[in-house]
Amino acid sequence: MSDNKVYRASTTAPVNIAVIKYWGKRDPKLNLPTNSSLSVTLSQSDLRTHTTASCSPKFTYEDSLLLNGSPQDVSGARTQACFRELRALRKKIEAENPSIPPLSTYPLNIVSENNFPTAAGLASSAAGFAALVRAIADLYELPSSPTELSRIARQGSGSACRSLFGGYVGWEMGSAVDGSDSVAYEVAPASHWPNMRALILVVSAAKKGVSSTTGMQTTVATSALFPARANEVVPRRMKEMEKAIAAKDFETFGKVTMRDSNGFHATCLDTEPPIFYMNDVSRAAIRIVEGINNAAGKTIAAYTFDAGPNAVIYYLEENEKAVAGLFKAMLGAKEGWGGNRGVAVPVNDEAMVKV
Ligand code: DP6
Repeated sequence: MSDNKVYRASTTAPVNIAVIKYWGKRDPKLNLPTNSSLSVTLSQSDLRTHTTASCSPKFTYEDSLLLNGSPQDVSGARTQACFRELRALRKKIEAENPSIPPLSTYPLNIVSENNFPTAAGLASSAAGFAALVRAIADLYELPSSPTELSRIARQGSGSACRSLFGGYVGWEMGSAVDGSDSVAYEVAPASHWPNMRALILVVSAAKKGVSSTTGMQTTVATSALFPARANEVVPRRMKEMEKAIAAKDFETFGKVTMRDSNGFHATCLDTEPPIFYMNDVSRAAIRIVEGINNAAGKTIAAYTFDAGPNAVIYYLEENEKAVAGLFKAMLGAKEGWGGNRGVAVPVNDEAMVKV
């Protein structure tokens, strides 16, 4: 009897927002970074990718991917690398268990939905590739650990490797040429410092002008500030940040977060041609955070910006009113903020949710 079944698995993956940024590749094919990085995984209620992976011998088409209803090109090296690695792991299991269906030989159909703007500097590729890898791993019933899956997701998009874990997550740059040691690891679970909050200010939902991939390659090739950032500044900050998280020291966590965001955007400006990700509204958000911290007499709010103008403001729950309250009041009131969305989200422990 021929197998006519459709095999299916669904998952959701969270967004992570780096406090020590990944910017630069030493191997663009494997997405091996020029520095380690560290991020916070956010709760999935407001920002997440939902992905269903299915496969069947009756699918007549090739592998396919639908993102927010639009067909995507899956022939790119990154998606292909993820498919190839996951199929190889499944093949191994099939070779050991000849009675199980040969799912690795069936076309894959992936359907993915983001509940936030795609490619607007809100880490959509991170959640996207993390969800893709997890959904296929579940479909193939792979026994792989989050570390192993992070190695695969990294090849889809570097920052995606960090979305395989919840809480506070590091990505060790590694040194192996095959990237086997360039994986994500848990710095601390969310429960260690559960009152951390992130306020997401969607300044613009437009697609970013220069993609992260192109931007960071140009920075590596042209910025005079870049070598010091990758070789000296970030390694020192990684240590400071891990220590601050271990000690739940928001003052240091906040200061290092802001310094690293500014340092990253400085190398973007130092790129030839220069890259501008922040706009006037982003800069106004920086001034507001400065005002909040000056009024408090200490760092209670910390901004960070990825490859786009949207601000993420970290703060502790006890300062909700002074930080998120003030921002929310300004969102509606101030010209230029009208219609912009502010969402306050907690840190999340559950990196992946099977649905
Ligand atoms: C500024 O992970 O999107 O958000 O590996 O080329 O897909 P690729 O880049 P991507 O870059 C993210 C850059 C960043 C910083 C960070 O998340 O660490």
